[in-house]
Amino acid sequence: MSSKWDDIEIRLLLEAIYQRYHYDFRGYASASIKRRLIRAMERFDCRSYSMLQDRVLHEPEILPEMLTLLTVQVSEMFRDPLYFKALRENVVPYLKTYPSLKVWIAGCSAGEELYSMAILFREEGLESRTMFYGTDINPEALKKAQKGMYPLDQISLFTKNHRQSGGKSSLSDYYTAAYGAAVFDKSLRDRAVFSDHSLVSDAVFAEVQLISCRNVLIYFDRDLQDRAVGLFKDSLASKGFLGLGSKESLRFSAHNSAFTEFDKPGHIYQMAARNM
Ligand SMILES: C[S@@+](CC[C@H](N)C(=O)[O-])C[C@H]1O[C@@H](n2cnc3c(N)ncnc32)[C@H](O)[C@@H]1O
Repeated sequence: MSSKWDDIEIRLLLEAIYQRYHYDFRGYASASIKRRLIRAMERFDCRSYSMLQDRVLHEPEILPEMLTLLTVQVSEMFRDPLYFKALRENVVPYLKTYPSLKVWIAGCSAGEELYSMAILFREEGLESRTMFYGTDINPEALKKAQKGMYPLDQISLFTKNHRQSGGKSSLSDYYTAAYGAAVFDKSLRDRAVFSDHSLVSDAVFAEVQLISCRNVLIYFDRDLQDRAVGLFKDSLASKGFLGLGSKESLRFSAHNSAFTEFDKPGHIYQMAARNM
């Protein structure tokens, strides 16, 4: 399956997806995108990237599945509980000083991270003054996020994570079990908006006090990471917070000097004060 022309074929395939559908994977980290394309070739029974290109170009109905194969949809509620603990203990006291708050979960997948944040904010008495924005490029994931339904067999992990994050209530207070799924209380999304937004090609968000973008930058190459962090910088309010995933940091970012490391173990950064 592998040939010396792989790199050329992959570049052409990603260009075709961009030209035809405006989904831009051209700046994603090459080793990871290659692994995902190999999986897509297996799934769509293609012997080469060029064959896959032909199918994607001429069969738009395979695009949703292609997007799911090209984006990593792994997530869980209160993933990396220490991150949520750090938010709760160290960031929330700052957030409590604001009369109203906007929180942006960039790359929210099926909503696990946003519901976790809404529960944390409810437990800390901040929910009623907060708007939550969950964005992603995967329409299937956004549909799932809107439903807030997760397989029941994930609940014991979510419950353990919630407890380790310093949860002040029982996770079971927030969902009901039905037909093998846990359906999260729709009041948790009363103040949430899920929408299609790409960190590669879309513009800045309205001024927000907290951005949580975890396990997304890791799939981008350096230039794309800089573009995304530039968006975060322009979207954050003065002294706003940016939370990254456990394997992500701003150490090599072109925007590093605009941030200070606020909570090292939590991978949470704070933007410098803006000059008024
Ligand atoms: C591994 S999941 C992370 C989910 C969640 N943030 C977490 O940490 O559990 C990565 C998500 O990033 C999304 N994503 C990939 N490229 C993106 C882009 N250019 N703009 C916005 N989201 C993107 C994917 O669709 C996927 O839902």
